[in-house]
Amino acid sequence: MKRAYIETYGCQMNISDSELMAGILAEQGFVATDKPDDADVILVNTCAIRDHAEQRVIGRVGQLQEFRRQGAVIGVTGCMAQRMGESLLGRAGGVDLVMGPDAYRQLPGKLTDVASRRTPRPALPLAFGQHAPQQPRGLTVLGFDPHENYEGVAARRISSVSAWVPIQRGCNYRCTYCIVPYVRGDEKNRDPQAILDEVRALAADGVPEVTLLGQTVNSYEHGGWDFPRLLREVARVDGIRRVRFTSPHPNGFTRQLVEVMAEEPAVCKQLHLPVQSGHDRTLKRMLRRYTVAEYLEKIEWVRQAMPGIALSTDVIVGFPGETDEEYQATLELMRTVRYDDAFLYKYSERDGTPATRMPRDQFVPDEVGQARLEGLIATHRAIQAEIYRSEVGRVEEVLVEKEGRRGGLQGRTAGNKVVTFDGPAELIGYFADVKLVATTGATFSGELEHAMAAA
Ligand code: 5AD
Ligand code: SF4
Repeated sequence: MKRAYIETYGCQMNISDSELMAGILAEQGFVATDKPDDADVILVNTCAIRDHAEQRVIGRVGQLQEFRRQGAVIGVTGCMAQRMGESLLGRAGGVDLVMGPDAYRQLPGKLTDVASRRTPRPALPLAFGQHAPQQPRGLTVLGFDPHENYEGVAARRISSVSAWVPIQRGCNYRCTYCIVPYVRGDEKNRDPQAILDEVRALAADGVPEVTLLGQTVNSYEHGGWDFPRLLREVARVDGIRRVRFTSPHPNGFTRQLVEVMAEEPAVCKQLHLPVQSGHDRTLKRMLRRYTVAEYLEKIEWVRQAMPGIALSTDVIVGFPGETDEEYQATLELMRTVRYDDAFLYKYSERDGTPATRMPRDQFVPDEVGQARLEGLIATHRAIQAEIYRSEVGRVEEVLVEKEGRRGGLQGRTAGNKVVTFDGPAELIGYFADVKLVATTGATFSGELEHAMAAA
């Protein structure tokens, strides 16, 4: 029996892909291990969205060479594997398998292939002048498959409390900064019945919360089904108490979707709606296909239909051509919307994306980008801390997910806010009423008021 260890970088889609990979490997008799030390196969599932993410992986693959020298096979999968291809084989000391996001069904076969080609390391230390056996060059599997949705693969999920459910892969947008369409291909959507069957099976297993995943999840469309219809049906599955989805694109975020969110009690009153910039000129250069006014109008619909809804977003600063005025407009937007949470980034140039072809003299110097990022973070954090402080004293329904890092329990509110509190481990997987007693400004600590059985 082969032991497989999987390490994941990047977004929820990648976490979900790792769960699919684990499922595919388990079906072929591989056993999961949570340590690289005793693994026969080490997989690093990677992200290509920013250069920083890739540098971390290169460093990590370098560290993992220790296990490769002892005979483990190292595979790099995911977006960075797709982007770098062949050139990854010789990086960071060497990689045995490079596999893109559409090829995971071939994992067991290809891993067996590369393992059988490798020469075992000599049991005794090498004598002077003797060379370690030359390992054969690794394999790459990089094709796109427009039909691969991993239908029929039983994911091996990390959490039995909250499940990621991919409903869509790839992306049909072409935001000019973004590498995703080039490494994950065009949008493809899963059959709604298969999705509903999966959600029903999760509910039957006692999983109370699901998050529907897609790169532009609200553009979901399959045989007459659109996203609002799918969301409503998922929310009505018996036993499913909480439904979230990520990430919708503001373009195509409709009133009809807002209605479903508002009407279905199981849909969490929480929304992550990436804005990217607060200025129309930047949005245009990013090819985001909406204006600031249109975005704000949608935020208005949502807040009118669901007062108190928790909002979060993604923002990029330092995009090519971003003037100080444009940056100030982004700060202004943050002050207008007042997000409960935000993921804030400095633009990272990605080879092959349209933004790389913008006039070089308009690129924002790195120090300017860095200063803007710091200013944005400070602005957001101050607002976030005000919001969190204003919520101290409330009693929230918390879904208990796991033991906290510093003891006690950790869970999330319907608004997706993290709460830690003391309580028995038996509460994991159940809902509890927790009084929010203090905040760090971005998380809460609470006191258990009342524990409830799962539905
Ligand atoms: N540079 C910086 N941030 C990026 N993102 C996507 N591409 C880039 C890039 N080239 C950010 C966007 C997206 C989030 C997942 O990552 O904000 O919404
Ligand atoms: Fe990238 Fe834009 Fe597609 Fe999101 S919508 S994955 S930012 S191209």
